[in-house]
Amino acid sequence: MSTANNLPINQKWLLKRHPDGLVKPEDFEFVEEPARIPGNGEVLVRTEYISVDAFIRTSLNKQEGFHMAVPLGGLVTALAVGRVIESSAPGLAAGDAVSGPLGAQTYGTFPAAMLQKVDDRLPISTYLGALGLTTGLTAYFGILDVGQVKAGETVLVSGAAGAVGSIAGQIAKIKGARVIGIAGGPDKARFLTETLGFDAAIDYRNEDVAARIKELAPEGLDVFFDNVGGEILEAAIANIRTRGRVAICGAISQYNDQQHVKGPSTYLKLAENYARMEGFTVLHFAERFAEAGAELAGWLASGQLKMPEHIEPGIESFPIALQKLFTGGNMGKMLVKP
Ligand SMILES: NC(=O)c1ccc[n+]([C@@H]2O[C@H](COP(=O)([O-])OP(=O)(O)OC[C@H]3O[C@@H](n4cnc5c(N)ncnc54)[C@H](OP(=O)(O)O)[C@@H]3O)[C@@H](O)[C@H]2O)c1
Repeated sequence: MSTANNLPINQKWLLKRHPDGLVKPEDFEFVEEPARIPGNGEVLVRTEYISVDAFIRTSLNKQEGFHMAVPLGGLVTALAVGRVIESSAPGLAAGDAVSGPLGAQTYGTFPAAMLQKVDDRLPISTYLGALGLTTGLTAYFGILDVGQVKAGETVLVSGAAGAVGSIAGQIAKIKGARVIGIAGGPDKARFLTETLGFDAAIDYRNEDVAARIKELAPEGLDVFFDNVGGEILEAAIANIRTRGRVAICGAISQYNDQQHVKGPSTYLKLAENYARMEGFTVLHFAERFAEAGAELAGWLASGQLKMPEHIEPGIESFPIALQKLFTGGNMGKMLVKP
């Protein structure tokens, strides 16, 4: 779609109201307008894939949290990859693939300094998934630096069939650990053991998580990589082993009501077992992104690491794709392809 002077029409999602609980399509407004001609130092980019991330939900709250709050009427924040279609910036040319905070829209004009050029010999969605900031890099530092996983250890991962969890569990396997994943439903449990090579899976929707952890890890957990929080975190801490590590990557079960976040009632087990719980964000490891990217790319190339993708077609699907992250509608990396 383009205007008379050949500028494409940008289709974008704005925040209409702050969501109450689970996000709904009515929380957003769909707007179409001509894209803007790039000024000096700027480029016009066509979005190819949008990364659907849990932090988008927390950025929609009225109260500013850890992530910058989107104002009412503002463009919904999202990381994305795309292609430069017009450039007025040195260093980027039409046809270059780029990644950056492009937002939930089909076209955008950005200062070139906001974007990172990526090597498109790989499918460019890889820069949101296995090599992406909020997926591969997060899993890498969380499981290796915070979790400090070692060969022979028993590792439990929650949200294991999702983007970060599936990579964290696979890295633990690469390092020689025994890996148990927690996910919702029999299909996801099978995906963990049959597609990703995890040693065992717990279907938290149909099984007693605490009982299954005891059964699968009778000697306790050396590492728990948590994406979910709430009752799953409680059950895992209750089974932590002496000198065990709990890596707090996220708590998706708590994001829809951040005024009432539930902490673990079992936390004294940390003291009893000389264990520790440590949180992190991927940004704490910024100076080592290149090192992590190179190692992840090596594992991808050798076939040791897989990043299945769940792609929702069309920019119109963005609100539902975001909702699905909170209802378990994805296996692997959730992306919107405009
Ligand atoms: N620390 C950091 O820097 C950082 C960076 C990026 C992401 N994160 C965190 O990593 C976590 C995973 O994010 P992601 O982007 O990879 O998402 P994802 O795991 O691909 O998708 C979210 C998954 O969470 C599960 N889930 C949703 N609500 C749940 C609930 N109430 N109880 C149990 N499971 C639930 C769903 O799977 P089921 O079907 O299994 O329920 C869903 O598929 C999030 O907590 C996010 O905040 C942290």
